[in-house]
Amino acid sequence: MARDLVLSFETSCDETSVAVIENGNKILSNIVATQIKSHQRFGGVVPEVASRHHIEQITGCIEDALRDADVTYDDLTSVAVTYGPGLVGALLIGVTAAKAVAWAHNLPLVPVNHLAGHIYAARLVEPIEFPAMALVVSGGHTELVYMPEEDKFEIIGETRDDAAGEAYDKIGRVLGINYPAGKPVDELAHQGKDTFKFPRAMDSDDNFDFSFSGLKSAFINTVHHADQIHEELSREDLAASFQQAVVDVLADKTQRALKEFPVKQLILAGGVAANKGLRERLTKEIASFKDTKLELVPLSLCGDNAAMIGAAGEMLYRHGARADATLNADPGLEF
Ligand code: KG4
Ligand code: ZN
Repeated sequence: MARDLVLSFETSCDETSVAVIENGNKILSNIVATQIKSHQRFGGVVPEVASRHHIEQITGCIEDALRDADVTYDDLTSVAVTYGPGLVGALLIGVTAAKAVAWAHNLPLVPVNHLAGHIYAARLVEPIEFPAMALVVSGGHTELVYMPEEDKFEIIGETRDDAAGEAYDKIGRVLGINYPAGKPVDELAHQGKDTFKFPRAMDSDDNFDFSFSGLKSAFINTVHHADQIHEELSREDLAASFQQAVVDVLADKTQRALKEFPVKQLILAGGVAANKGLRERLTKEIASFKDTKLELVPLSLCGDNAAMIGAAGEMLYRHGARADATLNADPGLEF
């Protein structure tokens, strides 16, 4: 079989990434230039700073991706790029670079939804079996996505306010933890106990939606109140209590969704999918769904990266997705 080689681009937030993917599921290279240090002193991603970094990094990332994969432009079959959702100025850099490469080398251009990319990261480990369900949890999204077949994505539940990762980052700031706070809070949580019993919003509601802003406020109020009365609270217990509330709601809603939409595979994807507590909990609970296999995206592919965009891009290409030089960034893109 001829080699299908996708050159893929991801610049929706604070990682500049370019990858080469063979036949949709094999990573030949995956260059990720992170900007986290530049954003840390601001406590979060500054869109203008992100765009400037992407401009500085993108050509070097393309060169490194081709060199690491040991291929040239002439070997490529297509170009895939994230065109939304994300920060408009950041997305535009990847979209512009991808269009330039596609035009200069006469290659088809495939537009990719960032969330489809997170889900299709699973394919880089094992083929996805359909129907499938994905719990996508990241800094910008918390969604339950039902996929009856390969290129069909139906959002059956989503957050009404903050995304799970956003809540981690915001409560992390109150604990004096730098952005992004997810991983350090996860580590603290493993040393503490759920003593605060924070609210589990919408947990018993008859839908698949989420809400994390009440939990975030309860956490912040608890810490501020303790500060006012000069009471020292255990950071470990605070983190454990917060994490337990997040994991409870995510796991409960996912289980309920699986009962209504039986699937062959449940995929846990997105930056927050790296969370140890969430991985452990889903592994335990999905075991009771005999016909559903749990696919945990490997830690190295949970955060934003272009390999996942290439994996989704190859699938979308087969289903006829194409863009031309008029492709624009779509910051609010939905499935
Ligand atoms: O998918 P991602 O890299 O970027 C977006 O598309 O948003 O996700 C980044 C988010 C951040 O909010 C970060 O704090 C969170 O993922 N995160 C975690 C963990 N590792 C990263 N959240 C909880 N536990 C973790 N271990
Ligand atoms: Zn992401």
